[in-house]
Amino acid sequence: MHPDVLNGITADFETARKLKAVFREGWSHPERVAGWVKGGLHAEFHDEACRQAWKDALSEAVQLAPSDRALDLGTGPGTIASMWAELGFRTTGIDFSPGMLEAGHKLATSRGLNLEFIEGDAEDPPVGDQSFGVISTRFVLYTLPHPGYAVRRWVQLLEPGGKLLLIGHERPDNSPPPTPTTTALQAPPKRGWQVDDHYRSALDQLPFMDHKPTDLQVVMEAAGLSEIRRLPIAGLESAREQLRQRDAEVAVGTSHPYIVVGRK
Ligand SMILES: C[S@@+](CC[C@H](N)C(=O)[O-])C[C@H]1O[C@@H](n2cnc3c(N)ncnc32)[C@H](O)[C@@H]1O
Repeated sequence: MHPDVLNGITADFETARKLKAVFREGWSHPERVAGWVKGGLHAEFHDEACRQAWKDALSEAVQLAPSDRALDLGTGPGTIASMWAELGFRTTGIDFSPGMLEAGHKLATSRGLNLEFIEGDAEDPPVGDQSFGVISTRFVLYTLPHPGYAVRRWVQLLEPGGKLLLIGHERPDNSPPPTPTTTALQAPPKRGWQVDDHYRSALDQLPFMDHKPTDLQVVMEAAGLSEIRRLPIAGLESAREQLRQRDAEVAVGTSHPYIVVGRK
């Protein structure tokens, strides 16, 4: 882990602003948005059995949350936000990519879900003085210039007793160690958007690129959370396998996701 992550500030303000501008542009590219919505790390969210496996794990993680207000940060096309809405939470999803939010609106509408989407920075969510019973983020911390600061900010936005869920994933066995470039290319578009030198050099400056589940636990503890535990997405592997057998064309994910949850 980068030695400064726990202090919160890992890049000066101007550098962080420039890095986020590079990533925002990248995540807003229409081909990248389309690739993400269809691709390996999101494809399973179009499948009901996989969605159910995710919902079961998420609901276990947020048992005894103090309210039904949920906030999902770096929500992309509302991936986890739509799960909260299906579980009965009043949900807000925040992302800085207008294309992702548009895709999220479309998917939510097609599912008959009522979700609020807001364009904004996950490191400093534009939610005024609202607080939430549940805050989540999936596959986002690695791409933030200030992951430690962000987690502290999110803890401030939690109600007392609220749950913070940081969702990450581990590489499948035998895959090569990730580099910024291979990580960014995990869900590459077939054509259109590509990682260029400018983007690659921005990725190289990120402090949390290759974080482990235990790093998430340490960051959560440093931000003042307790009862921190790691949960698997039980049932996901068998649902993925059935999906692969039903439709060989679907690019089902091969990494192993996990949820780290802590209580304020
Ligand atoms: C790897 S995708 C994950 C999307 C979604 N959470 C999911 O699980 O499908 C990362 C998302 O984080 C968003 N993102 C990255 N940095 C952000 C920031 N500083 N503020 C808001 N959104 C951000 C990107 O636009 C993208 O939608």
